[in-house]
Amino acid sequence: MPGAAEAGGYRARVDVPGIDARAVPAHVAIVMDGNGRWAQRRGLKRTEGHAAGEEALFDTVEGALELGIGWLTVYAFSTENWKRPADEVRYLMKFNESLLVRRRDEMHERGVRMRFVGRRDWRVPRRLIRRMDEAIELTRHNRTMTFTIAFNYGGRAEIVDAVRAIVAEGVAPEKIDERTIRRHLYDPEMPDPDLMIRTSGEYRISNYLLWEIAYSELVFTDVLWPDFRRKHLFDAVREYQRRERRFGGIEAGT
Ligand code: IPE
Ligand code: IPE
Ligand code: MG
Repeated sequence: MPGAAEAGGYRARVDVPGIDARAVPAHVAIVMDGNGRWAQRRGLKRTEGHAAGEEALFDTVEGALELGIGWLTVYAFSTENWKRPADEVRYLMKFNESLLVRRRDEMHERGVRMRFVGRRDWRVPRRLIRRMDEAIELTRHNRTMTFTIAFNYGGRAEIVDAVRAIVAEGVAPEKIDERTIRRHLYDPEMPDPDLMIRTSGEYRISNYLLWEIAYSELVFTDVLWPDFRRKHLFDAVREYQRRERRFGGIEAGT
């Protein structure tokens, strides 16, 4: 199974029982879902569920660093999330802005390179875009792990934007192949996810990384995002290591 060891030369820092350190996924993508339900079950406002998701996220980042995962990509706001009530949307914009300010130094100290994928359209507050650019700039030379936040991200929008860019360059139709599309996605350097995790017991993709997950292993868990911790990431990686990836071929040695 191709893993981080071959793909990026990353090294596990901690031996986690039941995980083969040489075969950890090089790229893990997560749909952080269930914040609203977590809050409602406690009689809290939905926004308090988003706030509680911060600890889940940064514990997961620590777990990914421990395993030596090279790329971690999380879904923070989708192109469809604008449909939510205005006060929830406003909260999420402010919350993400303050999160970047509060966490960027810690990420930098850990050698994490921060990136963002998604549309930077007029709906995303300028201040938030500025915080994103500051985090990118601060951490751009780090190599321990690339931590990407998908914000105002939609998989279909990403493919539309890639097609627009290709057409704008005047590329001849017969010159377009899968690599052409890949090179025009939001982050051409990002490898396809090996493992994609979705929390909260929903069994759907919700427009996340549509092009990139063609051959990802999917792991679904009932844990609501604010309760997610690195141990749940480790469980998902153990599940991943039990899978046999074939990429349309047949099992090696048969
Ligand atoms: C995920 O939690 C966070 C975002 C989509 C921003 P939700 O807010 O979707 O929580 P549920 O799914 O309603 O419980
Ligand atoms: C997906 O969750 C988007 C994020 C986690 C940011 P949603 O809660 O928006 O997805 P649906 O509506 O359940 O499909
Ligand atoms: Mg949801």
